[in-house]
Amino acid sequence: MSERPEPLGRPYVHVNCAVSLDGRLAFAGGQRAALSGPLDLVRVQRLRAELGAVLVGVGTVILDDPSLRVHWELLRRPPGPSPVRICLDGSGRLPAAARFLDGSQPTIVATTERNRRTYPAPVETIVAGTGPDVDLRRLLDALGERGFRGLLVEGGSHVISSFLRAGLVDRMTVYVAPVLIGGATAPSLIAGPESHSVDDWIELRRESVEPLDDGVLITLRPRDSAPRAPPSPL
Ligand SMILES: NC(=O)c1ccc[n+]([C@@H]2O[C@H](COP(=O)([O-])OP(=O)(O)OC[C@H]3O[C@@H](n4cnc5c(N)ncnc54)[C@H](OP(=O)(O)O)[C@@H]3O)[C@@H](O)[C@H]2O)c1
Repeated sequence: MSERPEPLGRPYVHVNCAVSLDGRLAFAGGQRAALSGPLDLVRVQRLRAELGAVLVGVGTVILDDPSLRVHWELLRRPPGPSPVRICLDGSGRLPAAARFLDGSQPTIVATTERNRRTYPAPVETIVAGTGPDVDLRRLLDALGERGFRGLLVEGGSHVISSFLRAGLVDRMTVYVAPVLIGGATAPSLIAGPESHSVDDWIELRRESVEPLDDGVLITLRPRDSAPRAPPSPL
């Protein structure tokens, strides 16, 4: 099937994450694990810069406190426009001291009607649905109306699950590091609803598998989705 350019509408959604060989996103209890190798880190910087917006859930902000900025030095380029960072914070749990709220780059909190909290300027707030979770379709529509053409979803487990189960993913890349984490509390690639049979698992189609650093990079698409063209590369 050939890729068609996307007319105005929802942004192109690319999910990216790094996992251990046993499919864990982090250490026990969700403690951050640096699973990417140096080449994978460069690849992620490029994705952030190309897609123009980076989204995580509030669970990731609480556990990792990520900056979500582009490390231009890794791309060996002069600094370009910062991607807009977006956090799903349905009930106002975002820590006030998080780097996410430091005002250093354009920032959006996506929330729900049940959250009465306000966020410091210049953070923009998008209210998508009544809750408890942020309504992802409404959020993507709102981002499309604001002219967003691409969105990089970086996690964590619950957010990746929600995007996949809602059928809102265009492409997914998973860097698999040759390490094993194990245990019961390390978060896996997806959380959310359990699958009981082939009727409710999530089926993906492999686009490519390539060696990268000491691991492999797997590129996938949801099995039955019509391919859409990503925004233009840098
Ligand atoms: N290896 C990697 O590539 C990578 C990347 C990112 C994160 N991580 C890891 O992932 C872990 C965090 O994952 P997590 O599952 O705990 O948290 P998460 O997915 O980052 O955030 C989940 C939270 O987001 C809020 N939310 C609002 N709307 C939502 C929606 N529609 N769908 C899903 N969530 C929504 C909910 O909190 P409210 O109910 O309060 O709104 C929910 O509990 C950390 O251990 C982190 O290190 C790893």
